[in-house]
Amino acid sequence: MELLKVDQIEKYYGNKSSLTKAIDDISFSVNQGEFVAIMGASGSGKTTLLNCISTIDHVTSGHIYLEGNDITKLKGKALNRFRREKLGFIFQDFNLLDTLTAYENISLALSIQGVHQSEIDQRIRKVAEQLGITEVLKKYPYQMSGGQKQRVASARAIITNPKLILADEPTGALDSKSSRMLLERFSYLNQEYKATIMMVTHDSFSASYASRVIFIRDGKIYHELVRGEDGRKEFFSKIIDVMTLLGGDVSDAV
Ligand SMILES: Nc1ncnc2c1ncn2[C@@H]1O[C@H](COP(=O)(O)OP(=O)(O)O)[C@@H](O)[C@H]1O
Ligand SMILES: [Mg+2]
Repeated sequence: MELLKVDQIEKYYGNKSSLTKAIDDISFSVNQGEFVAIMGASGSGKTTLLNCISTIDHVTSGHIYLEGNDITKLKGKALNRFRREKLGFIFQDFNLLDTLTAYENISLALSIQGVHQSEIDQRIRKVAEQLGITEVLKKYPYQMSGGQKQRVASARAIITNPKLILADEPTGALDSKSSRMLLERFSYLNQEYKATIMMVTHDSFSASYASRVIFIRDGKIYHELVRGEDGRKEFFSKIIDVMTLLGGDVSDAV
């Protein structure tokens, strides 16, 4: 079943004197339960694409449909409800609230939804254990490493079991052990809860956990790979081949 449809979107930044075409006519669909990685060099438009889907940014033209509803048209309360109930985002710069502990940051969305405190506690303990952040739950963001903040931000995004998880370079600040933990948690959510995931990454290892990889260059779709029956390692080497053609930096991906 089709969950997301991106239909001929374009995004320009700036004005007449200095115009950047960040997205240049991109269309694709994502089915419920897919795990899609978006890859491309720095500046290719990955963050812009994700931000348009998450409604943080507005498209210049084109449409984006989630479950058939045009989300580029949402406003006010409907927009807030859509973000709160359907999406989980993991931002490139974490976006944790500095005056709240890790525990409070993670629990916020569930509290707003009116989930009972004992259930909140149980869910947080479980996700914290899976992401290896149990020891930092009482800490404030300034007391955590970049990798810990990233995992707290990830826990916050997935704790509500959202329909669509959007993650911008979620493993960018993580060491390889933490990256694996997070990617395995994504795979688990994808397989057990049929969560649909879109993950922006420039890292071929991270992308190899996905079921499909969309490569973008200069704001356009350049290529697409579907994992099919391939194991993760075979898929990884196919991704590396495309990245080499794309001229991306593959040295940090192995
Ligand atoms: N707020 C902005 N104002 C102007 N230009 C921007 C803005 N955000 C991104 N861009 C430009 O849009 C292009 C795509 O950026 P981005 O989506 O951040 O790429 P990526 O995430 O792939 O590195 C780049 O040329 C970038 O400089
Ligand atoms: Mg980016």
